[in-house]
Amino acid sequence: MCGIVGYTGNLNAIRVGLEALKRLEYRGYDSSGVAYLDKEKNIQVIKSQGKIRKLEEKIDKINPYSNTAIFHTRWATHGEPSDINAHPHIDCKKILALVHNGIIENYREIKENLKDNHKFISKTDTEVLAHFLEENLNKEKLETKNILKALKLLVESVKGSYALNIIFKDLDKTIFFARKDSPLCIGIGEDENFLASDVTAFLPYTKKVIFLDDFEIGYLTPQKIYIYHVKTGKEFLLESGKIIKNTLNKKIENIPWDVSQAQKGGFKHFMLKEIFEQPKALEDTFLGQKEVLENLVERLKLPSLIVFSACGTSYHASLIGKIYLEKFSNLPCICEYASELRYSKFPYPKDALFIFISQSGETADTLAALREAKKRGFKTLAITNVLGSTISREADYVLYTYAGPEISVASTKAFSTQVLSLYSLAYYLGKKNGLNLNYKSHFSKVFTLIEKLRNFLENSENLKNIQEISKWLASFKNTLYIGRYYNYPLALEGALKLKEISYIHAEGYAAGEMKHGPIALIDENFPVIALATKDSYLEKLKGNIEEIKARKGKVVILSDEENLKSYGDFFIKVDYLEDLTCLLNILPLQLLAYYTADFLGYDVDQPRNLAKSVTVE
Ligand code: M6R
Repeated sequence: MCGIVGYTGNLNAIRVGLEALKRLEYRGYDSSGVAYLDKEKNIQVIKSQGKIRKLEEKIDKINPYSNTAIFHTRWATHGEPSDINAHPHIDCKKILALVHNGIIENYREIKENLKDNHKFISKTDTEVLAHFLEENLNKEKLETKNILKALKLLVESVKGSYALNIIFKDLDKTIFFARKDSPLCIGIGEDENFLASDVTAFLPYTKKVIFLDDFEIGYLTPQKIYIYHVKTGKEFLLESGKIIKNTLNKKIENIPWDVSQAQKGGFKHFMLKEIFEQPKALEDTFLGQKEVLENLVERLKLPSLIVFSACGTSYHASLIGKIYLEKFSNLPCICEYASELRYSKFPYPKDALFIFISQSGETADTLAALREAKKRGFKTLAITNVLGSTISREADYVLYTYAGPEISVASTKAFSTQVLSLYSLAYYLGKKNGLNLNYKSHFSKVFTLIEKLRNFLENSENLKNIQEISKWLASFKNTLYIGRYYNYPLALEGALKLKEISYIHAEGYAAGEMKHGPIALIDENFPVIALATKDSYLEKLKGNIEEIKARKGKVVILSDEENLKSYGDFFIKVDYLEDLTCLLNILPLQLLAYYTADFLGYDVDQPRNLAKSVTVE
């Protein structure tokens, strides 16, 4: 939640930073702002409520130039979205400006201590940090050494989460930073450096990155990067491309992502592009994980229980993972929402393996649950899409998905690649557990899957059919998705997709639960999407469909069985591919949500009230 960017170099920081900020807009989009140093090295701030384009309009009018700027795009926590609450925030004397991603938990206490000498103008928690630094720099000269001292004090005094970029009056081409529990990384360029919440911001300029860890503070100039760990006193210094000091043991990583992956590439929305990227994302994931998985499973001890934990779409992937692991590995599994697990008593066997799934690798609840599990001595495995993300660095083991950057708030290709990763993991764990599994047939199906997905997407009749159903679906206020076995988690995921981008109330249900309540809702104004593919207790599901029809409910049937056409009002034909059918079924569900939201004219990639990475609790 919230995206921050900092740039210092020889280019116009305002334009470079603004473009970088746009690539982070998925992290929050209720207001945005920039602070920069003008020719006289004074701080100037431009902010605007609304999307980044509003900020851009203001910038265009002034057309400022600077070599150093910090930016913010906001997802409001404290204080409503407004120009005043938008970041950057400044101190009373305007000696500094800062942008912040995270939540300052003890901001009231800090404010109370400062209130006699400082004037607060916003309702945010962030503003107290600007005044805190001002107060602690009061009698000091504005130079690096003193600023680092004040930053150290800030880290020691402030409770909560923060990624901070800070600029100071008169300190040209220098950006200070601090991080705890919110992502922040440094992009290393040639005679220019970047700070950002994630790497997509600076991908067009550099793929060389340093991920910052908790309690790290420091500064960068176009030629220099200095990092200091507040707790250990260890340091890192890079000057003119050379590492001068590295007691911190920081690594410079190379991001394998391509800049074109973070662009729309001719598609109307990122979501549509990402749906269409799924065959490639699955292929990359399958091939990319092959060796890693063998090695990973070799190092893992077979547990007596697997505890999956995740949020949202990633949680739905874990429900399918549970089926795979129980079926192919013969290992019992449970799935817990990370937001629940983190506060639970962890009453699990000592040898339980915890698998945390997160596209971003930054979700606050998932990270907190992971930390709790580790604290209690459990082994942890992270399945994540983002190299160097906090979850990937903190888990004992990591398995990356190779979906490439996922920009749309609604997760699509990340889900498919997570499910495929679990399918592969289940095979290797099964082998280790002594099950007689046929590698060739298990994995050759993956290539059939990829081909079938490509065929589905290339068939314009499929797309036309789903568009027509979407148009019809858009006129309803409520809808229900039902399915059994693999199709139950898919029902949950299909419903989540529809509600988050089209704002139509949608619920996913295990079809067998219909009679225990939801059937009361059914009438001619309540459409049901029935996921009715073979092997998912189809005969039972047919019974559920009959019961809905008997109550005048309208039904969209998604099935591989042509003869089910007559059962419903609409029909979506999918292929059947045994245990991988769920990865074929997800495609029309994602498209249905996409076209419905687009037909209703909503901002598909940036739905209201949401943000891509939920880095606050
Ligand atoms: O990055 P994560 O996978 O940890 O994110 C988890 C959820 O926030 C995410 O899946 C969310 O539910 C999506 N908006 C769903 O499309």
